[in-house]
Amino acid sequence: MTPRRSLAFLAVSLLVLAGAAAYRRTRAAPIGPDGAPVVVPGSAGDHVRMHMVLAPHDPTMPGPAPQAAEGRLQLDNDACEACHELQATQWRGSQHQTAYTDREFQRALAHEPVPFCRGCHAPEADPRRPATGWAADIGVGCVSCHVVGDAVLAADGPEVAAPHPLRRDPRFATAAACANCHQFAFPDSRRRARPEAMQRTIAEHAASPLAATGCGDCHMRDRHGARSHAFVGSRDDDYFRDALTISAARVAPDTVEIEVAARPDVVGHAVPTGDLFRRLAVAVRPLGRGPARPWTTQYLARHYALERAPDHGGPLRVERSDDRPHPGEPPRVLRFRLDPADTTRPVAWEVRFERVESILEEREDRAVVVGAMSLAAGELPPT
Ligand code: HEC
Ligand code: HEC
Ligand code: HEC
Ligand code: HEC
Ligand code: HEC
Repeated sequence: MTPRRSLAFLAVSLLVLAGAAAYRRTRAAPIGPDGAPVVVPGSAGDHVRMHMVLAPHDPTMPGPAPQAAEGRLQLDNDACEACHELQATQWRGSQHQTAYTDREFQRALAHEPVPFCRGCHAPEADPRRPATGWAADIGVGCVSCHVVGDAVLAADGPEVAAPHPLRRDPRFATAAACANCHQFAFPDSRRRARPEAMQRTIAEHAASPLAATGCGDCHMRDRHGARSHAFVGSRDDDYFRDALTISAARVAPDTVEIEVAARPDVVGHAVPTGDLFRRLAVAVRPLGRGPARPWTTQYLARHYALERAPDHGGPLRVERSDDRPHPGEPPRVLRFRLDPADTTRPVAWEVRFERVESILEEREDRAVVVGAMSLAAGELPPT
Protein backbone atom coordinates (compact mmCIF):
# COMPACT_ATOMS: atom_id res chain seq x y z
CA MET A 1 0.00 0.00 0.00
CA THR A 2 1.08 3.54 -0.54
CA PRO A 3 2.06 5.87 2.26
CA ARG A 4 -0.41 8.55 1.22
CA ARG A 5 -3.21 7.39 3.52
CA SER A 6 -1.34 8.04 6.74
CA LEU A 7 -0.46 11.62 6.00
CA ALA A 8 -2.33 14.36 7.76
CA PHE A 9 -3.05 16.74 4.95
CA LEU A 10 -3.26 20.34 5.96
CA ALA A 11 -2.93 22.12 2.75
CA VAL A 12 -5.12 23.19 -0.10
CA SER A 13 -7.23 25.89 1.36
CA LEU A 14 -9.05 25.67 -1.95
CA LEU A 15 -11.75 23.34 -0.73
CA VAL A 16 -12.65 25.63 2.11
CA LEU A 17 -12.52 28.71 -0.05
CA ALA A 18 -14.50 27.27 -2.91
CA GLY A 19 -16.99 25.81 -0.49
CA ALA A 20 -17.56 29.13 1.17
CA ALA A 21 -18.09 30.92 -2.08
CA ALA A 22 -21.46 31.85 -3.47
CA TYR A 23 -22.36 29.54 -6.32
CA ARG A 24 -23.87 30.73 -9.54
CA ARG A 25 -24.76 28.15 -12.09
CA THR A 26 -25.31 30.49 -14.94
CA ARG A 27 -22.84 32.99 -16.23
CA ALA A 28 -22.86 36.12 -14.16
CA ALA A 29 -24.32 39.25 -15.71
CA PRO A 30 -21.74 41.30 -17.56
CA ILE A 31 -20.99 43.90 -14.95
CA GLY A 32 -17.85 45.48 -13.59
CA PRO A 33 -16.49 45.94 -10.10
CA ASP A 34 -18.73 48.95 -9.46
CA GLY A 35 -21.81 47.13 -10.71
CA ALA A 36 -21.94 49.04 -14.00
CA PRO A 37 -21.57 47.42 -17.41
CA VAL A 38 -17.99 47.60 -18.57
CA VAL A 39 -16.96 48.10 -22.16
CA VAL A 40 -13.51 46.93 -23.07
CA PRO A 41 -11.64 49.62 -24.98
CA GLY A 42 -10.48 48.39 -28.36
CA SER A 43 -12.93 45.49 -28.63
CA ALA A 44 -16.44 45.61 -29.94
CA GLY A 45 -18.41 46.55 -26.87
CA ASP A 46 -17.50 43.48 -24.91
CA HIS A 47 -18.22 42.87 -21.32
CA VAL A 48 -16.61 41.84 -18.17
CA ARG A 49 -17.68 38.78 -16.30
CA MET A 50 -15.65 38.37 -13.22
CA HIS A 51 -18.24 37.48 -10.68
CA MET A 52 -17.69 34.56 -8.44
CA VAL A 53 -18.71 31.53 -10.43
CA LEU A 54 -17.30 28.75 -8.31
CA ALA A 55 -19.28 25.73 -7.23
CA PRO A 56 -18.64 24.22 -3.83
CA HIS A 57 -16.36 21.18 -3.84
CA ASP A 58 -18.38 18.04 -4.59
CA PRO A 59 -17.05 15.19 -2.43
CA THR A 60 -18.78 12.51 -4.53
CA MET A 61 -16.66 13.45 -7.57
CA PRO A 62 -12.89 13.48 -8.13
CA GLY A 63 -10.85 16.47 -7.08
CA PRO A 64 -7.51 17.72 -5.83
CA ALA A 65 -5.69 16.33 -2.77
CA PRO A 66 -6.54 15.61 -0.10
CA GLN A 67 -8.93 12.97 -1.33
CA ALA A 68 -10.61 11.50 1.74
CA ALA A 69 -8.21 8.77 2.85
CA GLU A 70 -10.58 7.11 5.32
CA GLY A 71 -12.46 4.33 3.59
CA ARG A 72 -10.97 5.06 0.19
CA LEU A 73 -10.66 1.96 -1.94
CA GLN A 74 -7.11 0.65 -1.79
CA LEU A 75 -6.10 0.01 -5.38
CA ASP A 76 -2.89 1.26 -6.92
CA ASN A 77 -2.66 2.91 -10.29
CA ASP A 78 -0.39 0.12 -11.55
CA ALA A 79 -3.21 -2.35 -10.97
CA CYS A 80 -5.71 -0.28 -13.01
CA GLU A 81 -3.16 0.05 -15.78
CA ALA A 82 -2.40 -3.66 -15.85
CA CYS A 83 -6.05 -4.71 -16.24
CA HIS A 84 -7.29 -1.81 -18.39
CA GLU A 85 -4.51 -1.70 -20.95
CA LEU A 86 -6.41 0.25 -23.60
CA GLN A 87 -7.27 3.16 -21.29
CA ALA A 88 -3.75 3.04 -19.84
CA THR A 89 -2.12 3.39 -23.26
CA GLN A 90 -4.32 6.37 -24.11
CA TRP A 91 -3.79 8.06 -20.75
CA ARG A 92 0.02 7.58 -20.75
CA GLY A 93 1.49 10.73 -22.32
CA SER A 94 -1.74 12.72 -21.83
CA GLN A 95 -1.72 16.12 -20.13
CA HIS A 96 -3.33 14.44 -17.14
CA GLN A 97 -0.56 11.91 -16.75
CA THR A 98 2.15 14.57 -17.14
CA ALA A 99 0.28 17.20 -15.08
CA TYR A 100 3.04 17.34 -12.48
CA THR A 101 6.14 16.52 -14.50
CA ASP A 102 5.55 18.65 -17.60
CA ARG A 103 7.94 21.50 -18.22
CA GLU A 104 5.28 24.25 -18.19
CA PHE A 105 3.97 23.22 -14.80
CA GLN A 106 7.43 22.75 -13.29
CA ARG A 107 8.46 26.16 -14.52
CA ALA A 108 5.35 27.80 -13.07
CA LEU A 109 5.71 25.86 -9.82
CA ALA A 110 9.25 27.17 -9.43
CA HIS A 111 7.75 30.70 -9.22
CA GLU A 112 5.00 29.63 -6.81
CA PRO A 113 6.07 26.46 -4.99
CA VAL A 114 2.88 26.14 -2.93
CA PRO A 115 0.75 23.18 -1.79
CA PHE A 116 -2.25 24.65 -3.59
CA CYS A 117 -0.64 24.05 -6.99
CA ARG A 118 0.76 20.62 -6.18
CA GLY A 119 -2.54 19.40 -4.76
CA CYS A 120 -4.26 19.53 -8.13
CA HIS A 121 -1.36 18.66 -10.45
CA ALA A 122 -0.26 15.68 -8.30
CA PRO A 123 -3.41 14.79 -6.37
CA GLU A 124 -2.00 11.49 -5.10
CA ALA A 125 0.93 13.13 -3.29
CA ASP A 126 1.16 15.02 -0.02
CA PRO A 127 0.82 18.60 -1.28
CA ARG A 128 2.96 19.98 1.55
CA ARG A 129 6.14 18.89 -0.20
CA PRO A 130 7.32 18.36 -3.75
CA ALA A 131 5.82 15.20 -5.23
CA THR A 132 8.22 12.36 -6.00
CA GLY A 133 8.17 8.84 -7.37
CA TRP A 134 4.95 7.25 -8.54
CA ALA A 135 2.70 10.09 -7.36
CA ALA A 136 4.62 12.61 -9.49
CA ASP A 137 4.75 10.19 -12.40
CA ILE A 138 1.00 9.55 -12.57
CA GLY A 139 -0.07 13.19 -12.11
CA VAL A 140 -3.85 13.01 -12.48
CA GLY A 141 -4.06 9.22 -12.54
CA CYS A 142 -6.70 6.54 -12.94
CA VAL A 143 -7.13 6.50 -9.18
CA SER A 144 -7.48 10.31 -9.01
CA CYS A 145 -10.55 10.29 -11.26
CA HIS A 146 -12.03 6.88 -10.51
CA VAL A 147 -11.35 6.14 -6.86
CA VAL A 148 -13.62 8.38 -4.85
CA GLY A 149 -14.70 6.64 -1.70
CA ASP A 150 -14.90 2.88 -1.40
CA ALA A 151 -15.55 1.89 -5.03
CA VAL A 152 -14.43 2.57 -8.58
CA LEU A 153 -16.57 5.38 -9.98
CA ALA A 154 -18.06 4.80 -13.44
CA ALA A 155 -20.72 6.35 -15.64
CA ASP A 156 -24.01 4.57 -16.31
CA GLY A 157 -23.67 1.31 -18.21
CA PRO A 158 -24.70 -2.30 -18.27
CA GLU A 159 -23.85 -4.51 -15.37
CA VAL A 160 -20.35 -5.96 -15.73
CA ALA A 161 -18.38 -8.53 -13.77
CA ALA A 162 -15.60 -6.40 -12.33
CA PRO A 163 -13.13 -7.75 -9.78
CA HIS A 164 -13.55 -4.53 -7.80
CA PRO A 165 -16.56 -2.68 -6.42
CA LEU A 166 -18.15 -0.29 -8.94
CA ARG A 167 -20.31 2.73 -8.19
CA ARG A 168 -22.28 3.86 -11.21
CA ASP A 169 -23.19 7.53 -11.19
CA PRO A 170 -24.64 9.20 -14.31
CA ARG A 171 -23.04 12.49 -13.24
CA PHE A 172 -19.64 10.99 -13.95
CA ALA A 173 -20.45 11.41 -17.67
CA THR A 174 -21.11 15.15 -17.15
CA ALA A 175 -19.12 18.25 -16.27
CA ALA A 176 -19.50 17.25 -12.61
CA ALA A 177 -16.63 14.77 -13.11
CA CYS A 178 -14.28 17.61 -14.03
CA ALA A 179 -15.62 20.49 -11.94
CA ASN A 180 -13.55 20.11 -8.77
CA CYS A 181 -10.35 20.60 -10.79
CA HIS A 182 -11.31 22.65 -13.84
CA GLN A 183 -12.77 25.57 -11.91
CA PHE A 184 -11.17 27.16 -8.89
CA ALA A 185 -10.42 30.43 -7.13
CA PHE A 186 -7.10 32.21 -6.66
CA PRO A 187 -5.47 30.86 -3.52
CA ASP A 188 -5.39 34.36 -2.03
CA SER A 189 -9.19 34.71 -1.99
CA ARG A 190 -9.08 35.45 1.70
CA ARG A 191 -7.36 38.74 0.93
CA ARG A 192 -9.87 39.80 -1.70
CA ALA A 193 -13.06 41.77 -1.34
CA ARG A 194 -14.60 39.16 -3.63
CA PRO A 195 -13.03 35.83 -4.60
CA GLU A 196 -12.08 35.49 -8.25
CA ALA A 197 -11.87 32.47 -10.48
CA MET A 198 -8.43 31.42 -11.65
CA GLN A 199 -10.05 28.97 -14.07
CA ARG A 200 -13.79 28.81 -14.81
CA THR A 201 -14.27 26.35 -17.63
CA ILE A 202 -17.30 24.83 -15.87
CA ALA A 203 -19.20 28.12 -15.72
CA GLU A 204 -18.28 28.92 -19.33
CA HIS A 205 -19.61 25.52 -20.31
CA ALA A 206 -22.83 25.96 -18.31
CA ALA A 207 -23.45 29.24 -20.17
CA SER A 208 -22.67 27.84 -23.63
CA PRO A 209 -25.18 26.46 -26.16
CA LEU A 210 -23.61 23.02 -25.55
CA ALA A 211 -24.15 23.04 -21.80
CA ALA A 212 -25.97 19.71 -22.06
CA THR A 213 -23.02 18.07 -23.83
CA GLY A 214 -20.65 16.48 -21.33
CA CYS A 215 -17.00 17.53 -21.31
CA GLY A 216 -16.09 13.93 -22.03
CA ASP A 217 -18.34 13.81 -25.11
CA CYS A 218 -15.79 16.12 -26.74
CA HIS A 219 -12.58 15.44 -24.83
CA MET A 220 -12.86 11.69 -24.50
CA ARG A 221 -13.06 11.07 -28.25
CA ASP A 222 -10.21 10.67 -30.68
CA ARG A 223 -10.21 12.02 -34.25
CA HIS A 224 -12.35 9.14 -35.43
CA GLY A 225 -14.95 9.59 -32.72
CA ALA A 226 -13.76 6.56 -30.76
CA ARG A 227 -13.59 6.67 -26.97
CA SER A 228 -10.21 7.86 -25.67
CA HIS A 229 -8.55 8.67 -22.37
CA ALA A 230 -5.98 10.88 -24.13
CA PHE A 231 -8.19 13.93 -23.36
CA VAL A 232 -7.41 15.92 -26.45
CA GLY A 233 -7.10 19.68 -25.92
CA SER A 234 -5.14 22.63 -27.16
CA ARG A 235 -2.04 20.49 -27.92
CA ASP A 236 -3.81 19.28 -31.02
CA ASP A 237 -3.44 22.13 -33.54
CA ASP A 238 -6.30 21.12 -35.81
CA TYR A 239 -8.63 20.52 -32.90
CA PHE A 240 -7.93 24.05 -31.73
CA ARG A 241 -8.21 25.70 -35.17
CA ASP A 242 -11.59 24.05 -35.71
CA ALA A 243 -12.99 25.80 -32.66
CA LEU A 244 -12.85 29.27 -34.24
CA THR A 245 -14.13 31.03 -37.31
CA ILE A 246 -11.87 33.86 -38.36
CA SER A 247 -12.25 36.40 -41.14
CA ALA A 248 -10.53 39.64 -42.16
CA ALA A 249 -11.71 42.51 -44.36
CA ARG A 250 -10.50 45.92 -45.40
CA VAL A 251 -13.68 47.83 -44.74
CA ALA A 252 -12.13 51.17 -45.77
CA PRO A 253 -8.76 52.11 -47.29
CA ASP A 254 -7.49 52.89 -43.80
CA THR A 255 -9.43 50.31 -41.79
CA VAL A 256 -9.00 46.57 -41.33
CA GLU A 257 -11.53 44.52 -39.37
CA ILE A 258 -10.81 41.04 -38.07
CA GLU A 259 -13.64 38.92 -36.72
CA VAL A 260 -13.07 36.00 -34.39
CA ALA A 261 -15.89 33.77 -33.16
CA ALA A 262 -16.09 30.53 -31.19
CA ARG A 263 -18.05 27.86 -33.10
CA PRO A 264 -21.07 26.90 -31.00
CA ASP A 265 -21.22 23.47 -32.65
CA VAL A 266 -17.57 22.64 -31.92
CA VAL A 267 -16.52 24.12 -28.61
CA GLY A 268 -18.30 24.17 -25.26
CA HIS A 269 -16.55 27.09 -23.54
CA ALA A 270 -14.51 30.21 -24.21
CA VAL A 271 -11.45 29.95 -26.47
CA PRO A 272 -8.91 29.66 -25.02
CA THR A 273 -10.27 28.31 -21.76
CA GLY A 274 -8.55 27.05 -18.63
CA ASP A 275 -5.14 28.32 -17.68
CA LEU A 276 -4.89 32.14 -17.56
CA PHE A 277 -1.58 32.39 -19.34
CA ARG A 278 -3.09 31.96 -22.78
CA ARG A 279 -4.50 34.37 -25.29
CA LEU A 280 -5.36 35.06 -28.90
CA ALA A 281 -3.12 37.62 -30.59
CA VAL A 282 -4.66 39.47 -33.55
CA ALA A 283 -2.16 41.42 -35.64
CA VAL A 284 -1.86 43.51 -38.82
CA ARG A 285 1.12 44.96 -40.67
CA PRO A 286 1.28 47.12 -43.79
CA LEU A 287 3.42 45.58 -46.56
CA GLY A 288 5.07 46.98 -49.69
CA ARG A 289 7.97 49.17 -50.63
CA GLY A 290 9.85 51.43 -48.27
CA PRO A 291 10.80 50.93 -44.63
CA ALA A 292 9.19 47.83 -43.05
CA ARG A 293 6.20 48.62 -40.82
CA PRO A 294 5.83 46.97 -37.41
CA TRP A 295 2.95 44.66 -36.49
CA THR A 296 0.09 46.23 -34.54
CA THR A 297 -1.40 43.65 -32.17
CA GLN A 298 -4.54 43.41 -30.05
CA TYR A 299 -5.23 40.60 -27.61
CA LEU A 300 -8.35 38.59 -26.85
CA ALA A 301 -7.88 37.33 -23.32
CA ARG A 302 -8.76 37.70 -19.71
CA HIS A 303 -7.03 41.01 -18.98
CA TYR A 304 -5.47 41.58 -15.57
CA ALA A 305 -4.21 44.56 -13.58
CA LEU A 306 -2.50 44.91 -10.24
CA GLU A 307 -4.71 46.50 -7.60
CA ARG A 308 -4.17 47.50 -4.00
CA ALA A 309 -5.47 44.87 -1.62
CA PRO A 310 -8.10 45.76 1.00
CA ASP A 311 -5.63 44.57 3.69
CA HIS A 312 -2.90 46.90 2.35
CA GLY A 313 -0.63 43.89 1.81
CA GLY A 314 1.02 43.20 -1.53
CA PRO A 315 -0.99 44.08 -4.67
CA LEU A 316 -3.52 41.60 -6.08
CA ARG A 317 -3.94 40.45 -9.65
CA VAL A 318 -7.49 41.46 -10.56
CA GLU A 319 -9.38 40.64 -13.73
CA ARG A 320 -10.44 43.77 -15.59
CA SER A 321 -12.15 42.30 -18.60
CA ASP A 322 -12.64 39.16 -20.64
CA ASP A 323 -12.96 39.46 -24.40
CA ARG A 324 -12.18 35.88 -25.38
CA PRO A 325 -14.68 34.55 -27.92
CA HIS A 326 -17.48 32.61 -26.17
CA PRO A 327 -19.66 30.20 -28.18
CA GLY A 328 -23.15 31.57 -28.72
CA GLU A 329 -21.99 35.18 -28.48
CA PRO A 330 -21.49 37.57 -31.40
CA PRO A 331 -18.01 37.52 -32.95
CA ARG A 332 -15.31 39.71 -31.48
CA VAL A 333 -14.63 42.46 -34.03
CA LEU A 334 -11.19 44.02 -33.82
CA ARG A 335 -10.69 47.22 -35.75
CA PHE A 336 -7.27 48.46 -36.87
CA ARG A 337 -6.88 52.02 -38.17
CA LEU A 338 -3.93 52.38 -40.58
CA ASP A 339 -1.57 55.29 -40.84
CA PRO A 340 -2.66 57.62 -43.74
CA ALA A 341 0.68 56.83 -45.42
CA ASP A 342 -0.26 53.12 -45.52
CA THR A 343 -3.72 53.31 -47.09
CA THR A 344 -2.39 52.36 -50.53
CA ARG A 345 -0.37 49.41 -49.27
CA PRO A 346 -1.44 45.79 -48.94
CA VAL A 347 -1.82 44.63 -45.35
CA ALA A 348 -0.77 41.33 -43.80
CA TRP A 349 -2.86 39.93 -40.93
CA GLU A 350 -2.59 37.01 -38.57
CA VAL A 351 -4.41 35.44 -35.61
CA ARG A 352 -2.28 33.38 -33.22
CA PHE A 353 -2.84 31.32 -30.08
CA GLU A 354 -0.13 32.18 -27.55
CA ARG A 355 1.07 30.87 -24.19
CA VAL A 356 2.66 33.70 -22.25
CA GLU A 357 4.52 34.38 -19.01
CA SER A 358 2.70 37.57 -18.00
CA ILE A 359 -0.96 38.47 -18.11
CA LEU A 360 -0.79 42.01 -16.82
CA GLU A 361 -2.59 44.43 -19.09
CA GLU A 362 0.08 47.11 -19.05
CA ARG A 363 2.67 44.55 -20.17
CA GLU A 364 0.61 42.56 -22.64
CA ASP A 365 2.61 43.58 -25.68
CA ARG A 366 5.87 42.84 -23.86
CA ALA A 367 4.86 39.46 -22.42
CA VAL A 368 7.33 36.66 -23.05
CA VAL A 369 5.65 34.26 -25.45
CA VAL A 370 6.62 30.69 -24.57
CA GLY A 371 4.55 28.97 -27.24
CA ALA A 372 2.57 30.10 -30.28
CA MET A 373 0.50 28.62 -33.07
CA SER A 374 -0.80 30.44 -36.12
CA LEU A 375 -4.57 29.97 -36.49
CA ALA A 376 -5.22 32.01 -39.63
CA ALA A 377 -3.34 34.53 -41.76
CA GLY A 378 -3.63 36.38 -45.06
CA GLU A 379 -3.11 39.56 -47.05
CA LEU A 380 -5.59 42.30 -47.90
CA PRO A 381 -4.97 44.44 -51.00
CA PRO A 382 -5.65 48.21 -50.87
CA THR A 383 -9.24 49.10 -51.73
C1 HEC B 1 -7.72 -7.47 -11.78
C2 HEC B 1 -8.10 -6.65 -12.92
C3 HEC B 1 -8.69 -5.27 -12.64
C4 HEC B 1 -8.17 -4.27 -11.86
C5 HEC B 1 -6.96 -4.31 -10.93
C6 HEC B 1 -9.00 -3.12 -12.08
N1 HEC B 1 -10.01 -3.43 -12.95
FE1 HEC B 1 -11.50 -2.22 -13.52
N2 HEC B 1 -12.50 -3.74 -14.33
C7 HEC B 1 -11.96 -4.98 -14.58
C8 HEC B 1 -12.94 -5.81 -15.28
C9 HEC B 1 -12.73 -7.25 -15.73
C10 HEC B 1 -14.10 -5.00 -15.43
C11 HEC B 1 -15.44 -5.38 -16.06
C12 HEC B 1 -15.59 -5.19 -17.54
C13 HEC B 1 -14.55 -4.41 -18.26
O1 HEC B 1 -14.65 -3.18 -18.35
O2 HEC B 1 -13.58 -5.05 -18.71
C14 HEC B 1 -13.77 -3.70 -14.85
C15 HEC B 1 -14.62 -2.61 -14.86
C16 HEC B 1 -14.19 -1.31 -14.64
C17 HEC B 1 -14.94 -0.12 -14.92
C18 HEC B 1 -16.37 -0.05 -15.45
C19 HEC B 1 -16.37 -0.12 -16.94
C20 HEC B 1 -17.77 0.05 -17.46
O3 HEC B 1 -18.34 -0.95 -17.90
O4 HEC B 1 -18.29 1.15 -17.38
C21 HEC B 1 -14.14 0.95 -14.62
C22 HEC B 1 -14.48 2.43 -14.75
C23 HEC B 1 -12.91 0.41 -14.12
N3 HEC B 1 -12.97 -0.95 -14.14
C24 HEC B 1 -11.83 1.18 -13.71
C25 HEC B 1 -10.77 0.67 -12.96
C26 HEC B 1 -9.81 1.47 -12.26
C27 HEC B 1 -9.76 2.98 -12.26
C28 HEC B 1 -8.97 0.61 -11.60
C29 HEC B 1 -7.86 0.96 -10.65
C30 HEC B 1 -8.28 1.73 -9.48
C31 HEC B 1 -9.39 -0.73 -11.95
N4 HEC B 1 -10.48 -0.65 -12.76
C32 HEC B 1 -8.76 -1.88 -11.52
C33 HEC B 1 -10.70 -5.41 -14.19
C34 HEC B 1 -9.86 -4.74 -13.31
C1 HEC C 1 -9.38 12.91 -15.84
C2 HEC C 1 -10.20 11.85 -15.32
C3 HEC C 1 -9.93 10.44 -15.73
C4 HEC C 1 -8.73 9.77 -15.72
C5 HEC C 1 -7.36 10.32 -15.39
C6 HEC C 1 -9.03 8.41 -16.07
N1 HEC C 1 -10.36 8.26 -16.32
FE1 HEC C 1 -11.31 6.55 -16.88
N2 HEC C 1 -13.01 7.58 -17.20
C7 HEC C 1 -13.22 8.90 -16.84
C8 HEC C 1 -14.58 9.25 -17.13
C9 HEC C 1 -15.21 10.61 -16.86
C10 HEC C 1 -15.20 8.10 -17.68
C11 HEC C 1 -16.64 7.91 -18.11
C12 HEC C 1 -16.96 8.72 -19.29
C13 HEC C 1 -18.35 8.47 -19.84
O1 HEC C 1 -18.85 7.34 -19.82
O2 HEC C 1 -18.89 9.46 -20.33
C14 HEC C 1 -14.17 7.07 -17.72
C15 HEC C 1 -14.36 5.78 -18.21
C16 HEC C 1 -13.50 4.72 -17.96
C17 HEC C 1 -13.76 3.32 -18.28
C18 HEC C 1 -15.00 2.79 -18.99
C19 HEC C 1 -14.65 2.50 -20.45
C20 HEC C 1 -14.27 3.73 -21.24
O3 HEC C 1 -13.15 3.74 -21.81
O4 HEC C 1 -15.04 4.68 -21.26
C21 HEC C 1 -12.67 2.60 -17.85
C22 HEC C 1 -12.47 1.10 -17.93
C23 HEC C 1 -11.73 3.56 -17.30
N3 HEC C 1 -12.25 4.82 -17.40
C24 HEC C 1 -10.49 3.23 -16.77
C25 HEC C 1 -9.48 4.17 -16.53
C26 HEC C 1 -8.10 3.81 -16.30
C27 HEC C 1 -7.56 2.41 -16.22
C28 HEC C 1 -7.41 4.99 -16.16
C29 HEC C 1 -5.91 5.18 -16.01
C30 HEC C 1 -5.09 4.54 -17.01
C31 HEC C 1 -8.38 6.07 -16.27
N4 HEC C 1 -9.60 5.53 -16.51
C32 HEC C 1 -8.06 7.42 -16.13
C33 HEC C 1 -12.29 9.75 -16.28
C34 HEC C 1 -10.95 9.47 -16.11
C1 HEC D 1 -7.96 15.69 -10.15
C2 HEC D 1 -8.09 16.87 -10.98
C3 HEC D 1 -8.63 16.75 -12.38
C4 HEC D 1 -9.81 16.16 -12.81
C5 HEC D 1 -10.83 15.42 -11.97
C6 HEC D 1 -9.90 16.42 -14.23
N1 HEC D 1 -8.81 17.13 -14.66
FE1 HEC D 1 -8.42 17.70 -16.57
N2 HEC D 1 -6.62 18.46 -15.98
C7 HEC D 1 -6.18 18.54 -14.67
C8 HEC D 1 -4.89 19.18 -14.65
C9 HEC D 1 -4.07 19.48 -13.38
C10 HEC D 1 -4.55 19.47 -15.99
C11 HEC D 1 -3.32 20.21 -16.49
C12 HEC D 1 -2.24 19.29 -16.87
C13 HEC D 1 -1.01 20.07 -17.35
O1 HEC D 1 -0.20 20.44 -16.52
O2 HEC D 1 -0.92 20.27 -18.54
C14 HEC D 1 -5.66 18.99 -16.80
C15 HEC D 1 -5.70 19.05 -18.20
C16 HEC D 1 -6.81 18.73 -18.97
C17 HEC D 1 -6.88 18.86 -20.41
C18 HEC D 1 -5.76 19.27 -21.34
C19 HEC D 1 -5.71 20.72 -21.51
C20 HEC D 1 -4.69 21.16 -22.52
O3 HEC D 1 -4.01 22.15 -22.22
O4 HEC D 1 -4.57 20.56 -23.57
C21 HEC D 1 -8.15 18.53 -20.78
C22 HEC D 1 -8.73 18.56 -22.17
C23 HEC D 1 -8.85 18.13 -19.57
N3 HEC D 1 -8.00 18.25 -18.49
C24 HEC D 1 -10.15 17.71 -19.53
C25 HEC D 1 -10.76 17.13 -18.41
C26 HEC D 1 -12.09 16.58 -18.42
C27 HEC D 1 -13.01 16.56 -19.61
C28 HEC D 1 -12.31 16.11 -17.15
C29 HEC D 1 -13.56 15.44 -16.62
C30 HEC D 1 -14.01 14.24 -17.30
C31 HEC D 1 -11.13 16.36 -16.37
N4 HEC D 1 -10.21 16.98 -17.17
C32 HEC D 1 -10.97 16.00 -15.02
C33 HEC D 1 -6.84 18.10 -13.54
C34 HEC D 1 -8.02 17.37 -13.56
C1 HEC E 1 -18.49 20.72 -27.82
C2 HEC E 1 -17.20 20.21 -27.48
C3 HEC E 1 -16.57 20.62 -26.17
C4 HEC E 1 -17.13 20.56 -24.91
C5 HEC E 1 -18.55 20.19 -24.51
C6 HEC E 1 -16.06 20.93 -23.99
N1 HEC E 1 -14.91 21.23 -24.67
FE1 HEC E 1 -13.11 21.70 -23.88
N2 HEC E 1 -12.35 22.08 -25.74
C7 HEC E 1 -13.03 21.87 -26.92
C8 HEC E 1 -12.20 22.35 -28.02
C9 HEC E 1 -12.59 22.32 -29.48
C10 HEC E 1 -11.00 22.85 -27.45
C11 HEC E 1 -9.83 23.51 -28.17
C12 HEC E 1 -10.06 25.00 -28.23
C13 HEC E 1 -9.94 25.67 -26.90
O1 HEC E 1 -8.88 25.59 -26.27
O2 HEC E 1 -10.91 26.31 -26.44
C14 HEC E 1 -11.12 22.65 -26.02
C15 HEC E 1 -10.14 22.97 -25.09
C16 HEC E 1 -10.20 22.63 -23.73
C17 HEC E 1 -9.11 22.77 -22.81
C18 HEC E 1 -7.73 23.25 -23.15
C19 HEC E 1 -7.64 24.71 -23.00
C20 HEC E 1 -6.51 25.33 -23.70
O3 HEC E 1 -6.72 26.41 -24.24
O4 HEC E 1 -5.43 24.76 -23.75
C21 HEC E 1 -9.57 22.36 -21.58
C22 HEC E 1 -8.80 22.33 -20.27
C23 HEC E 1 -10.95 21.96 -21.75
N3 HEC E 1 -11.30 22.15 -23.07
C24 HEC E 1 -11.76 21.47 -20.73
C25 HEC E 1 -13.13 21.26 -20.87
C26 HEC E 1 -14.03 20.98 -19.76
C27 HEC E 1 -13.60 20.82 -18.33
C28 HEC E 1 -15.28 20.88 -20.29
C29 HEC E 1 -16.60 20.68 -19.57
C30 HEC E 1 -16.90 21.64 -18.52
C31 HEC E 1 -15.16 21.05 -21.73
N4 HEC E 1 -13.85 21.29 -22.03
C32 HEC E 1 -16.22 20.96 -22.61
C33 HEC E 1 -14.27 21.29 -27.05
C34 HEC E 1 -15.17 21.06 -26.01
C1 HEC F 1 -7.89 22.88 -8.62
C2 HEC F 1 -6.92 22.47 -9.60
C3 HEC F 1 -5.73 23.31 -9.95
C4 HEC F 1 -4.94 24.08 -9.14
C5 HEC F 1 -5.10 24.35 -7.66
C6 HEC F 1 -3.87 24.58 -9.98
N1 HEC F 1 -4.01 24.14 -11.26
FE1 HEC F 1 -2.78 24.46 -12.83
N2 HEC F 1 -4.10 23.61 -14.07
C7 HEC F 1 -5.26 22.99 -13.69
C8 HEC F 1 -5.98 22.56 -14.84
C9 HEC F 1 -7.33 21.87 -14.83
C10 HEC F 1 -5.20 22.92 -15.95
C11 HEC F 1 -5.51 22.64 -17.40
C12 HEC F 1 -6.21 23.79 -18.04
C13 HEC F 1 -5.66 24.16 -19.33
O1 HEC F 1 -4.77 23.47 -19.83
O2 HEC F 1 -6.11 25.19 -19.81
C14 HEC F 1 -4.01 23.59 -15.43
C15 HEC F 1 -2.98 24.09 -16.22
C16 HEC F 1 -1.83 24.65 -15.70
C17 HEC F 1 -0.70 25.05 -16.49
C18 HEC F 1 -0.55 24.91 -17.97
C19 HEC F 1 0.11 23.60 -18.23
C20 HEC F 1 0.48 23.39 -19.65
O3 HEC F 1 1.03 22.31 -19.92
O4 HEC F 1 0.22 24.26 -20.48
C21 HEC F 1 0.24 25.57 -15.63
C22 HEC F 1 1.61 26.10 -15.98
C23 HEC F 1 -0.33 25.49 -14.31
N3 HEC F 1 -1.59 24.92 -14.38
C24 HEC F 1 0.32 25.92 -13.16
C25 HEC F 1 -0.30 25.99 -11.92
C26 HEC F 1 0.27 26.66 -10.77
C27 HEC F 1 1.63 27.34 -10.72
C28 HEC F 1 -0.64 26.56 -9.76
C29 HEC F 1 -0.57 27.17 -8.38
C30 HEC F 1 -0.55 28.62 -8.36
C31 HEC F 1 -1.76 25.77 -10.27
N4 HEC F 1 -1.51 25.45 -11.58
C32 HEC F 1 -2.86 25.41 -9.51
C33 HEC F 1 -5.69 22.77 -12.41
C34 HEC F 1 -5.14 23.37 -11.28
